[in-house]
Amino acid sequence: MYIKEIKLENFRNYDFEKLKLNEKINVIFGDNAQGKTNILEAIFVSALGKSFRTNKDNELIKENKNYAKLEINFEKNNRNEKINLELSNKKLFFINEIPIKKTSEIIGKINVVLFSPEDIEILRSEPIRRRKFLNIMISQLRPMYIHLMSQYNKILEQRNNYLKQIKYENKLKNNLEIWDEQLSKYGLKIYEYRKEFIEKINNKIKEIHLKTTENIENIDIKYKTNINKENYLINLKKNIEKDIQKGYTSIGIHRDDFEIYINNKNVGIYGSQGQQRSSIISLKLAEAEVVYDEIDDYPVILLDDFMSELDKKRVNGFIKNIKNNQVIITCTEKITLDKMVYNLFKVENAKIEKM
Ligand SMILES: Nc1ncnc2c1ncn2[C@@H]1O[C@H](COP(=O)(O)OP(=O)(O)O)[C@@H](O)[C@H]1O
Ligand SMILES: [Mg+2]
Repeated sequence: MYIKEIKLENFRNYDFEKLKLNEKINVIFGDNAQGKTNILEAIFVSALGKSFRTNKDNELIKENKNYAKLEINFEKNNRNEKINLELSNKKLFFINEIPIKKTSEIIGKINVVLFSPEDIEILRSEPIRRRKFLNIMISQLRPMYIHLMSQYNKILEQRNNYLKQIKYENKLKNNLEIWDEQLSKYGLKIYEYRKEFIEKINNKIKEIHLKTTENIENIDIKYKTNINKENYLINLKKNIEKDIQKGYTSIGIHRDDFEIYINNKNVGIYGSQGQQRSSIISLKLAEAEVVYDEIDDYPVILLDDFMSELDKKRVNGFIKNIKNNQVIITCTEKITLDKMVYNLFKVENAKIEKM
């Protein structure tokens, strides 16, 4: 699939701009704080229903304006499609002009894999960051997953509230059973999805990483969870006393994590900076391949601030490796790519100029 045209209106620092893209490589360059990442963010919002850098939709609206609009024209399975977003005190998405009821229905229409400088945090920060990676990937491919997650989170919140009521208001312990059953029911399904996708990533990443390290580094991803099929409900019950004391639920998929190993060492802990970066790139490339297998089409690859992460040689190598995807790159310098045809755009103070 590929994005043909983007229209931005009052989105972030833009007034009104149009951008026509080719189906291969598009390079957007410009100084810092001019509006490069904002373009990728606009695409991301249209693909996932929300931004990768804020949960507050009104930050996306240009200062002193009361609405923002986005339009993305794209081609998928040889069909022209259009997604529109109107953001004011409400958030309205349209697919081919038809308004959709729930934001979650937008997810997966446009398929993207985003590489951003903050991705390194996947390795370095708390488990919540790694769960976010899994959630974004799986949501794009399994609409059911979004539903399961929102149900699970609701029930979890209710259970946690009830735990506090048992402690402080002497409510009955027995009533927890209702939530435990629900939690394990939804939790197990989420567990199955995560297990499936970590396995899929693992099957792809090994080869990718061997290739980029000249067969030196063996990479492996391990799903870390405190539950499994057999013991979910049992473990919930085992920990009831502890949970009541703490006022929250200690067992379940909301505590999930995964670890990346290179040659049997946890790269998040023992890896060099270079190894950490290259394993994240391999992880993202593996994600792109998994998406391809699932949708039978190539996701759009968004590379934010790519030059800051890699030297020019590696950029060339990297791009050669992703021949069939549309690629949209932002960088601070005008780059030249060997023997490749690409569109070049300059962004300056929220104005986009084709070079
Ligand atoms: N809601 C907003 N209204 C107006 N300007 C904004 C808004 N949000 C961000 N900006 C501006 O957008 C610019 C950052 O854009 P960004 O795309 O992140 O820059 P870069 O070119 O470095 O990637 C900054 O100048 C910031 O002040
Ligand atoms: Mg940027």
